[in-house]
Amino acid sequence: MNEAISLLSNYDESSLDAAFSTLAEEVRSETASLADVEAFRLRWLGRKQGRLKLVSEAWLKSAPADARKPLGMRFNQLKQQIEAALTDAETAPPALAAKAGIDITLPGSVRAPGNEHPLLKTMNEVVAVFHRLGYSTALGPQVESDFYNFEALNFPPNHPARDTQDTLVLAGQQTKASRDRLLMRTHTSPVQIRTMIAEAPPIRIVVPGKVHRNDAADATHSPVFHQVEGLCVDTNITFSDLKGTLDHAMKALFGSAVKTRFFPSFFPFTEPSADVQISCIFCAGKGCRKCKQSGWIELLGCGMVDPAVFASVDQQRVAQGKERAYDAAKISGFAFGMGVERIAMIQHGISDIGQFYSGDMRFLEQFA
Ligand code: PHE
Repeated sequence: MNEAISLLSNYDESSLDAAFSTLAEEVRSETASLADVEAFRLRWLGRKQGRLKLVSEAWLKSAPADARKPLGMRFNQLKQQIEAALTDAETAPPALAAKAGIDITLPGSVRAPGNEHPLLKTMNEVVAVFHRLGYSTALGPQVESDFYNFEALNFPPNHPARDTQDTLVLAGQQTKASRDRLLMRTHTSPVQIRTMIAEAPPIRIVVPGKVHRNDAADATHSPVFHQVEGLCVDTNITFSDLKGTLDHAMKALFGSAVKTRFFPSFFPFTEPSADVQISCIFCAGKGCRKCKQSGWIELLGCGMVDPAVFASVDQQRVAQGKERAYDAAKISGFAFGMGVERIAMIQHGISDIGQFYSGDMRFLEQFA
């Protein structure tokens, strides 16, 4: 709202000069940093409440006859000043560049060339190790059905991993049969099933990809993380092949001095199952804080493919009109799965998993 214009007590020339120069000064200071041209136009030239309208009402109407002419002249000058300021504002180049004195002849800011994210780098390294052994890459969806993620992998119906405590399930699935319900895959193992249903042995695949679990984020957990899965199925595949393959892979990733050891473990889809540990790369196995003084670091899960998995694969193949190809009496295989974040953290001595997802250039640039 415009402030009121106070009445003139004197109409002699010097009083008029003083009154109008105050207004001219107001116009000048407002146009010095004119952000909203339209607001300025309204404030001064608005038909009902504009300041010029108020001036004409307060001063012109009550002016004595002989003051009309000098007053009118000054009034018109003020109006011209306002109109000139408006024309300037509308035709001037963008105010910012002009005011900030930007020199458009200076070179622009340089964009750093892109670089592989440390996680992708590690994931590609792992995959490359297996490519050199003759494996090829297979991929699968992140939104998966209960069948591929659990049922075909021999998880019993009430296995705790199926609990929503651990698994992120999609909404609105209750009306579907349990095996068709959709969820975010909790591991890359469903791609084992998809591949075996689609293809007969021999199979050698690695499966890099994102997986999801209903875990709270902390220094070593993230609800979204990455795995590389491996599957090898052929005739006469034994546990020694599994040990030799993974021992080779760990040496390729962490250096030839690294030792591996296999600990009994359990997964519903492998029998026997094992956890693979590598000798601590920080203390060469002597025992330190990183390996909790044990000299060993647990790195991945693995095992021989459980015959129950082959059976459900063949059942599915038959249902799709394909021949049986996974008779456990004739073929065998091994599988393994490893966490990419965990490997990258060990490779680079990173203690907080959150750094990978922070987008902080100071962190990422170290891997350039
Ligand atoms: N899928 C298992 C996990 O996410 C890892 C695994 C893969 C174990 C293949 C054995 C064989 O924990």
